[in-house]
Amino acid sequence: MLAKVRPVGGKVYLSQSAPVDIPWKASYQHIYTNSGTAALSLAVAAAMQAKASSVVGAPEVILPAYACPDLVAAIIAQGASPVLVDLEESSFFLNLEQLQEAVTSNTVAIIAVNFLGMYERLPELREIADAEGLMLIEDSAQAPIPLSAKAAYADFAILSYGRGKPVNLMGGGALLFKSAHAGLISSITKTLVRSQLVVNWAWKLKALIVNALIMRYPYGLLERMPFLNIGATTYHPLQYIEVRDGMDQLVSIGLKHFYAIREAQVTAYARGLAELRNAGWKLLLDGEADNASRKGLLRFPILAPSCAMRDHLELELNRLGYGVNAFYRVPLSQIEGIKARVKNGGDDFPVAEAFADRLLTLPCHEGITTSEIDVVVDAVKTVAKLGC
Ligand SMILES: Cc1ncc(COP(=O)(O)O)c(C=O)c1O
Repeated sequence: MLAKVRPVGGKVYLSQSAPVDIPWKASYQHIYTNSGTAALSLAVAAAMQAKASSVVGAPEVILPAYACPDLVAAIIAQGASPVLVDLEESSFFLNLEQLQEAVTSNTVAIIAVNFLGMYERLPELREIADAEGLMLIEDSAQAPIPLSAKAAYADFAILSYGRGKPVNLMGGGALLFKSAHAGLISSITKTLVRSQLVVNWAWKLKALIVNALIMRYPYGLLERMPFLNIGATTYHPLQYIEVRDGMDQLVSIGLKHFYAIREAQVTAYARGLAELRNAGWKLLLDGEADNASRKGLLRFPILAPSCAMRDHLELELNRLGYGVNAFYRVPLSQIEGIKARVKNGGDDFPVAEAFADRLLTLPCHEGITTSEIDVVVDAVKTVAKLGC
């Protein structure tokens, strides 16, 4: 089939008349940057400065063993050392016991990642950070609004406005910081290049092209071109950090569009797939506690009973024209170029590996209809019944 529903990603929205509504304004100040990686790197720099007097060796930053390689790039760019921590069983949460064991006198920060829009356990991580004297960074690149916007858990939070993120502005990021850290951030950013995002004809034309290319026929065609490597997870060093002005309104508009269809789609998946739980499958978004995550889900994640079953389902749904995928596919330490850059890159992370083997993400965005979600649900159920 030539047409393919993309695995993730909203359109670029550019109306300039909507009112500005920044949901984290009560708890955080913010600056925009050229990317989420750049914003995260600034948060790492701030944590390093805040802890400079107590660190004797290379500053260390803790992150989950199943994550985007951009996290490693953001840490390395500041000369710090990434330290991986395995996950809780069948979950994207950091294993709290192993997290505490990983803390050394050189640790400056913990990065909590909101995975595919689902929130990490920020209250528990805040307690650990306080007990150990560490900075807590909420990486909300994959969620539209950080959990900290409500209760100010994290010292810093970051957002991404790249392709495939909740708000697609064809690039960009945001660094959120508490007022107490404003001096620190302005001393770190004062020498950086500043640019202004201008919604001129060139930007609008680029948005038009991006919006056309993510439609199902162009996307299906582009995906067949192996040299484009669409969807591959690779390590890229962070090239530069820039502060960008003029994004508040685009972000506000993007957020409105993101929330418009999300809940109905997530509910359709959750209802349709609920019965799979009795057959060894796991819906990552489960229970009442996940209500906040439900509204901000970027893709609908399920864990198959086995890698073989996941791979089979991935092939089958792609054959039917639905871009489902295994996301990073391997733990961070197994992505090319990461092992040597990470303090404990030679260790095993068995829980992250099992998670990577079983994860499949189902599309959940404005480019798929509710009746198509029913088709995806039926296909998952058929594979689950037949096994493979
Ligand atoms: C969890 C996470 N953090 C940070 C980033 C980096 O964001 P950007 O692509 O805007 O640099 C990504 C990108 O995919 C991500 O998934």
